Amino acid sequence: MIEFNNVYFSYDKEHTVLDGISFKIEKGESVGLIGANGAGKSSMLKVLLGLLPHDGEISVNGIKVCKQNLAEVRRVLGFVLQNSDNQMFMPTVLDDMMFGLCNYGMSKKDAEARVDEVLEQLDLVSLKNKYNHKISGGEKRMAAIATVLAMQPEVIIMDEPSVSLDPYNRRAVINVINRLEQTKIIASHDLDMIMETCTKVMLLSGGRIVAVGTTDEILRNKKLLEENRMELPFGIAAADR
Ligand SMILES: Nc1ncnc2c1ncn2[C@@H]1O[C@H](COP(=O)(O)OP(=O)(O)OP(=O)(O)O)[C@@H](O)[C@H]1O
Ligand SMILES: [Mg+2]
Repeated sequence: MIEFNNVYFSYDKEHTVLDGISFKIEKGESVGLIGANGAGKSSMLKVLLGLLPHDGEISVNGIKVCKQNLAEVRRVLGFVLQNSDNQMFMPTVLDDMMFGLCNYGMSKKDAEARVDEVLEQLDLVSLKNKYNHKISGGEKRMAAIATVLAMQPEVIIMDEPSVSLDPYNRRAVINVINRLEQTKIIASHDLDMIMETCTKVMLLSGGRIVAVGTTDEILRNKKLLEENRMELPFGIAAADR
């Protein structure tokens, strides 16, 4: 479904940010992307989305990620960026959620029904007619997540979905992620959320993948996590006490 083959990327000549990344993600897999601040997680996701250029090869559903194919690739990939402020560009939450659906040819009536369904799932009905510039950071994040879910893309990519969410909304997002059958890639420092939502974990350090394994293999490995500036998830550390 998603394949990276020897992918390199740098913002400037001095620092290599992605340093020869290769991996495959199969259809339906749920993959957690972890690593310290600056490890390259967001850059890797942006390169996959074609928001940043790269050397090497990336394909999505057999389609090469390059300028000519971007529209096709983006139809498959739905994403919530780390800074979701940049993703909301219509006046209201409803307008934003309808925009993509109508753009892909859905009637206004059907689009609004889809929007209502997703907002209900996430207990966000009260946000529907709010102005994007008048909602809180966490509400904006929830609205961005709802917008992507409404599109029902084949692959869902989330960069730090739980940041700035209160416990209730964090739980709502975890529950929704777990109900989705799509392929998922979730980058996060919230290792407890990764523990609950992902079957596989990739650990990035200095622009390289230093470990790949089942969620249990990676997230229960105290030594590996500490060597890479992370700690055991709270849930596991507490159970071991
Ligand atoms: N716009 C930019 N211009 C130049 N360098 C950048 C830019 N964005 C990120 N970097 C650098 O690229 C490296 C990787 O950053 P990236 O944002 O991919 O890390 P990350 O793993 O997502 O970190 P975090 O956990 O803090 O979100 C860092 O060294 C960072 O300083
Ligand atoms: Mg990041």
